[in-house]
Amino acid sequence: MRAEIAAYLHHMRGVRCQPEQIVVGAGTYHSLDLLFQLLREDVVCMASEEAVNDGVKALFGQFRFDCRPLRLESDGICLEELQATGAQAVYVTPSHQFPYGMTLSAGKRLKLLQWAKERRAYIVENDYDGEFRYSGRPIPSLQSLDDDGRVIYVGTFSRALTPAFRLSYLVLPPALLARFRSRRHSYDQLASPIFQMTQQLFMQSGDFGRHMRKMRSVYHKKRDALLYAVRDTFPAGVEMIGADSGLHLLLRVRGEKDEAELVRAAAREGVGIYPASAYRLRSEADEAPTVLLGFGGLSEADIREGVRLLARAWKMESSLNK
Ligand SMILES: Cc1ncc(COP(=O)(O)O)c(C=O)c1O
Repeated sequence: MRAEIAAYLHHMRGVRCQPEQIVVGAGTYHSLDLLFQLLREDVVCMASEEAVNDGVKALFGQFRFDCRPLRLESDGICLEELQATGAQAVYVTPSHQFPYGMTLSAGKRLKLLQWAKERRAYIVENDYDGEFRYSGRPIPSLQSLDDDGRVIYVGTFSRALTPAFRLSYLVLPPALLARFRSRRHSYDQLASPIFQMTQQLFMQSGDFGRHMRKMRSVYHKKRDALLYAVRDTFPAGVEMIGADSGLHLLLRVRGEKDEAELVRAAAREGVGIYPASAYRLRSEADEAPTVLLGFGGLSEADIREGVRLLARAWKMESSLNK
């Protein structure tokens, strides 16, 4: 399966690696847990995007890294803040920041790699949904631009297949691969061998490639359904963010209600949305209420209905407040 993953990553994301560099895991947080065990003897201070997925936040705490949140700008992390941290590693989601949805610009990618090279620091690149990009040119992974063994690429099959498989992988640079090999007896392989073999056969037969082409088109249509429904339904004060890739987008809602009220009102109409502030490593007093809308698992009809209910929920709130 590792040979299949290496070929797939090269084709899809420009990743350059040998199959031996791939370490399969049982989901992103299992893979990151393993990686952090390898990193902790070099890394005391870990810089990170200022907002991350809950599982990542929990791992930062578990490993007791001196965690330094970095401000997110429209083109990704603030590099001046990174320079000032003295960190030995940085965690990023460059293709599609989770949760805020921005893409790390080409210029910042090169500067980030330069930073890592000069500091002998590591870049943890979580490319959790990099395969799903709907507009603009495909953006190569950071790993594909790295000539110095500084980037650890982290990927998952959760978005391409289903999270229920629990299959993920790390692409380790040579130095960490040697460390992993010297200790591999102490790591548990939690990824089911049956699922690994199933995925290998799926990839070898070419069916996975066909599935991915189909899913890109399916998700593109769902994304469009959400995009047009939001544009047609909400007034100009509701800003859409991060719709160019991935399986979620955000709405920034300037009005009287705070995030918690927006989420509660949506829940009363049976619509599940998530408050962006819940993912922050530090609070940002000035940010307008921002919520996440996932669309991967919904039909186009459900997406349109969900947006209609959301508009009703938020209007109902404002009429109650009058
Ligand atoms: C940032 C990020 N990474 C990875 C994943 C996928 O996690 P897993 O591989 O554990 O299913 C998600 C899922 O939402 C995510 O938000």
